[in-house]
Amino acid sequence: MSLFNVYPLNPIAITKAAGSRVWDDQGQEYLDMYGGHAVISIGHTHPYWVKRIEDQLHAIAFYSNSVVMPIQEELATAINELSGKKDFQLFLCNSGAEANENAMKLASFHTGRKKIIAFKKSFHGRTSLAVAATDNPSIVAPVNETDNIIFLPLNDVLALENCFATMGHEIAAVIVEGIQGVAGIYEASTIFLQAIRKHCDGAGAVYIADSVQCGYGRSGQFFAHDIAGVDADIYSMAKGMGNGFPIGAILITPHIQAKFGLLGTTFGGNPLACAAALAVIEVIQKENLIQAAAENGAFLIHALENTPGVKTVRGRGLMIGFEMEAGLEEIRKVLLNEMKVFTGEAKPNVIRLLPSLAITKQDIDLFLNRLNIAIQHLKQTPA
Ligand SMILES: Cc1ncc(COP(=O)(O)O)c(C=O)c1O
Repeated sequence: MSLFNVYPLNPIAITKAAGSRVWDDQGQEYLDMYGGHAVISIGHTHPYWVKRIEDQLHAIAFYSNSVVMPIQEELATAINELSGKKDFQLFLCNSGAEANENAMKLASFHTGRKKIIAFKKSFHGRTSLAVAATDNPSIVAPVNETDNIIFLPLNDVLALENCFATMGHEIAAVIVEGIQGVAGIYEASTIFLQAIRKHCDGAGAVYIADSVQCGYGRSGQFFAHDIAGVDADIYSMAKGMGNGFPIGAILITPHIQAKFGLLGTTFGGNPLACAAALAVIEVIQKENLIQAAAENGAFLIHALENTPGVKTVRGRGLMIGFEMEAGLEEIRKVLLNEMKVFTGEAKPNVIRLLPSLAITKQDIDLFLNRLNIAIQHLKQTPA
């Protein structure tokens, strides 16, 4: 095999998918509670999404950002409308890391400053500045190490206040996930997000809301950060935005002014990606998926809280993490291998649920049923 071996892979070849189901090359069906890492927003191979991409392919797949592209403007208007961030400006790129990289770079250009506040256990991506702002030294290469990132504890209003009091004039930006994903589903509190807004305003710093995983309706609101009732200056987005078609973006407050050459990309905002993203928004609206995420998520969280064997449950909407009681830590393996259910994980023992926002109530019941069987199985035959 000649692939660069960086992923610990499940020995399963997924070759077909529809809605919240996937099939392997042997025809075995699986229930997908993982959504390919929070990417599947409207459901695998949604027919409307497939058709819109297909139609776009026949018209034009790519041209560079040297010409006017009406489909980009159409997407910007649709995001303004769905997100409620009416006057915000859209810059399109290709991934979550790239979105955060551009967000932090823009904040630095805008303020003329270098320091960025990030939080313990955060994950912002693997490009140079995004990985430097990620609290995981094992994925930071020596060349990415920098003194410009300050890590503070999440939800510690006092630590934030102290940091701004001592060096507020040096801070370009604060970057925060509305709900930390890779960390194991930890929510930023409302008062903490409000404090970030206040201190950024006071010091002239930029509030960056990393919405790559928790955004695009997953939390039951378009942006998870919206729970605090204050706007960020920049929202980064990716994952659910294209339902699997690679696309990322930042949504930028009207008071940050664009200048030619400030940001740029070859592939970002290509017509094919925009068609995929427009299809996602149109389906979210037509099928009322943000409300569905809120309702189905609340139901699933409540059911998990009442499942014997489940120790703790965290999260909002369809971004859920739970931990099992002692002796049941192998539950993910049993769910996958025996109950044919894909879930996500966060080390050491958090099971993450990030299903399609279009998952049906029947599939949620099916998951809960299989989870209960898996728990019984583990209780009878401990690993
Ligand atoms: C919160 C958050 N930000 C950024 C990223 C990076 O996104 P990408 O893998 O598309 O570069 C991720 C990916 O998991 C993420 O969860």
